[in-house]
Amino acid sequence: MDKLRIAGGRALAGEIQVSGAKNAALPILCAALLAADTLELSRVPVLQDVRTMLRLLRQLGVRDTREGEALLLDARALTSHEAPYDLVKTMRASILVLGPLLARLGEARVSLPGGCAIGARPVDQHIKGLQAMGAQISIEHGYVVAKAARLRGARIVTDMVTVTGTENLMMAATLASGTTLIENAAREPEVVDLAQALNAMGARVSGAGTDRIEIEGVQALHGARHAVMADRIEAGTFLCAAAAAGGDVVLRGVASVTLDATLEKLRATGAQIEAGDDWLRLVMAGRPRAVSVRTAPFPGFATDMQAQFMAVDAIASGTATITETIFENRFMHVLEMQRLGADITIEGNTAVVRGVERLSGATVMATDLRASAGLVIAALVAEGETIIDRIYHLDRGYEGIEAKLGALGAAVERLR
Ligand code: EPZ
Repeated sequence: MDKLRIAGGRALAGEIQVSGAKNAALPILCAALLAADTLELSRVPVLQDVRTMLRLLRQLGVRDTREGEALLLDARALTSHEAPYDLVKTMRASILVLGPLLARLGEARVSLPGGCAIGARPVDQHIKGLQAMGAQISIEHGYVVAKAARLRGARIVTDMVTVTGTENLMMAATLASGTTLIENAAREPEVVDLAQALNAMGARVSGAGTDRIEIEGVQALHGARHAVMADRIEAGTFLCAAAAAGGDVVLRGVASVTLDATLEKLRATGAQIEAGDDWLRLVMAGRPRAVSVRTAPFPGFATDMQAQFMAVDAIASGTATITETIFENRFMHVLEMQRLGADITIEGNTAVVRGVERLSGATVMATDLRASAGLVIAALVAEGETIIDRIYHLDRGYEGIEAKLGALGAAVERLR
């Protein structure tokens, strides 16, 4: 199992290009299933989760080829409607094939994803919405078995804001007869990016980015060309690294409007941030001030940024609280950060972080994708050497992280 060795204590300086967004690419890859045509995507990040999704799409009959930087997905001849457990168990986002398969083929058999490290993460809202659209759905031997001659438009109000729930229902509704209204919809920028890709394919989606999305069903979709949006969480991760370690970094290719809540909190730590249409610059001299955050659906502070921001608070001057409202078990990085000398106590869904002058290197273990990003940041500021084990978690969501950190002057080495 690969490890990262990080020698901490260096400021970061330089410029990097932000990759395409994992959480936009994954649903958009599934959107290819909706058309008997070819979807051409650019800026699809090279990540473990993308490789897993492509393996699943191939099993369904999609043929993927690369032409230069572009990824072409030919979904003319689908050969299966089943997403097997051995693939779904490694990546929950596989549930995103359910809506498109049901809409395109009239049937789908998708393994229930099961829990994951950060929480139970059920898919009951996905199922409820599809049933509202006329699907007959049963749970058989751990699989969601769904059938619908043709989905019909419906008004759906989800019990809570769900990103992939919104995405699954939006995709299913594109080929339904009639109009679907999703209320309490997720407003994440990745939902907007998916809607843009669907509309390029001939769908009629309006209201994406608001909590009320309307989809007018059409007979068929066609191929299209789409550039995946930049990864705002990757960008936020590097900004937190610079805020913690100090320095001057420029991130290219990211729209600052997609991570306003993170920028506001980083400015409160004392970081100087300049933002252009598609670039961000963060300058941090000296120690950050402690800042409290509370995660919330977009446009609130992203739960996917919580662990990374905790690493900033861990060495900040003062005490802050970090409250996780989305997932029930997203503090696994706390125990590992304590091994690096962080002073954090957990009270229910709130972590109280008392900033310390310095962290000291140790061997720690990644437990989930964003927890491992938080540990990388803590290691960058810890004195001495830190070894982070099980970094396959990191490879799921960060393209070439050691090369990008190295380009910013960090001493990071992958140990195979
Ligand atoms: C998406 O997960 C992201 N993944 C997650 O990013 C992100 O943390 C999460 O949204 C919240 O922003 C992708 O987009 C591929 P939810 P998702 O459905 O859609 C509950 C990362 O690090 N819920 O918005 O699975 C659920 O348990 C990953 O890149 C139900 O109860 O999250 C959670 O408590 C981690 N029933 C809350 O809603 C449902 O049917 C929000 O979950 C659906 C969700």
